[in-house]
Amino acid sequence: MLRVSFFAALAGFVVATSGQVLADDADAALVKAGSRVFNACRACHVADADQDSGLGPNLWAVIGAKSAHRDDFDYSDAVKKAGIVWTDENLDKWLANPKAFLSGNKMAFIGLPKEEDRKAVIAFLKTKK
Ligand code: HEC
Repeated sequence: MLRVSFFAALAGFVVATSGQVLADDADAALVKAGSRVFNACRACHVADADQDSGLGPNLWAVIGAKSAHRDDFDYSDAVKKAGIVWTDENLDKWLANPKAFLSGNKMAFIGLPKEEDRKAVIAFLKTKK
């Protein structure tokens, strides 16, 4: 009886850890895809600590930050006064159609029409903190 429950526990452990491995792989793949999507942003954005903002603000630690999160960037009034937090949801809307989400902003970018691209780039930005 003891032996049976030992193997049952062992089997449970193996299933649990391989599930975790699969989840980690999926996350890693999403982040990798997001790094490729971020190539569309690199003309204007960097996303590493200790870098100056360029044509667009540095996106280091932007996830969970308030809009206009950088001191070294001259934001439009639209973004300065938006008073929002860059949650996954707000980022998703912003990246789908920046102009529609905050009219009058100066991010000259058409947006990412594919939901999977937005998801991936958000996962990538989450690693930048
Ligand atoms: C042509 C240049 C350009 C491209 C390409 C671009 N952006 Fe931007 N981005 C800007 C500018 C400029 C702003 C500031 C907008 C303002 O102040 O109105 C901005 C603002 C942002 C902000 C708000 C940051 C804050 O501090 O509030 C986020 C988030 C962002 N961009 C993400 C992205 C992502 C992700 C991509 C690629 C999918 C991208 N941008 C592509 C120029 C660009």
